[in-house]
Amino acid sequence: MIDWANLPFGYLKTKSNTRCLYSEGKWGKMEVTESENINMHMAATCLHYGQECFEGLKAYRGKDGKIRVFRWEENSKRLNRSAARVGMPEVPAELFKEMLFTLVKENADFVPPYGTGASLYIRPLMIGMSPRLGISASTEVLLILFCSPVGPYYKGGFKPIKVIVERGSDRAAPLGTGTVKVGGNYAAALNMSIKSHEMGYGAALYLDPKEKKYIDECGPANFFAIKGDKYITPKSTSILPSITNMSLQALAEKKGLTVEKRQIPLTELAECDEAAECGTAAVISPISAVYDPDENKTYTFGDQVHPGKNCVELYETLVGIQYGDIADPFGWISFVE
Ligand code: PLP
Ligand code: COI
Repeated sequence: MIDWANLPFGYLKTKSNTRCLYSEGKWGKMEVTESENINMHMAATCLHYGQECFEGLKAYRGKDGKIRVFRWEENSKRLNRSAARVGMPEVPAELFKEMLFTLVKENADFVPPYGTGASLYIRPLMIGMSPRLGISASTEVLLILFCSPVGPYYKGGFKPIKVIVERGSDRAAPLGTGTVKVGGNYAAALNMSIKSHEMGYGAALYLDPKEKKYIDECGPANFFAIKGDKYITPKSTSILPSITNMSLQALAEKKGLTVEKRQIPLTELAECDEAAECGTAAVISPISAVYDPDENKTYTFGDQVHPGKNCVELYETLVGIQYGDIADPFGWISFVE
């Protein structure tokens, strides 16, 4: 029996996953498999040269029992941007959709019941499979979509976390791969992620890699702040365009906030009322404090215990649309019949 209401954000075995192999210049037929393993050559380009990219999206069960997928077309587009950046082929949206909807239907029993706060996380993964010693792109590429029921990314769910500013390393270069979802970005942030957890912080907050002055994003999520009646979020050539952030910007505008996407000097946090991380896994994770160890300065937000009122409203509206409690005026939801 799965304890749906207490699920962590982790991998749990489900019934099956969907796969498709690109070979000789074209995609093959989608397969459904119960195997959790991949048989690959030890010289595969994904292992040595990081020729891989991935995605993350969720399916939600509503009060009506129906399963809803959130903005999958955006993940399909972003997967293709990532794939192109690391020399892998385009995945037609129709193929992505077939693999996604088949996966969710196959694993419908693993879509958590309504009211548990959990959801089904879907992880598309694309990897270069050809054996290579010299640096060149794979001609065989494997696309896998697997899933796992998950709870909140940060223990405690919608509760404020503290983050620490990282100046000693960058997760992406100014014109590097920060704008796409490739494994190397996460590998580059792993040591700091471990260190920040050991120091008692929820995450590291990265600054722009060129000037080390402006806020970029956290390891697994974008950043936004509320400043008076403004929703401000970084514009940068080294952060991932978050689908959650894009959705929150639409919701913020709808509720009368002015959205500003621009460079945000770290020091501007002193003038902000609320701050948060946002992403598929993180949803909205409010930030109560940003600690800058180099300046020995802490920026604090709200009463340290409760999320701020704009974060609460944005969270409730976003999650309400995802679970189908609130009408979706944007066309963000697709039903899995
Ligand atoms: N930034 C990074 C580095 C991420 O890994 C993610 C997660 O996908 C996000 C931001 C949030 O993006 P999205 O809202 O599309 O999940
Ligand atoms: C997501 O939010 O989908 C992510 O990919 C974040 C993460 C767990 C790397």
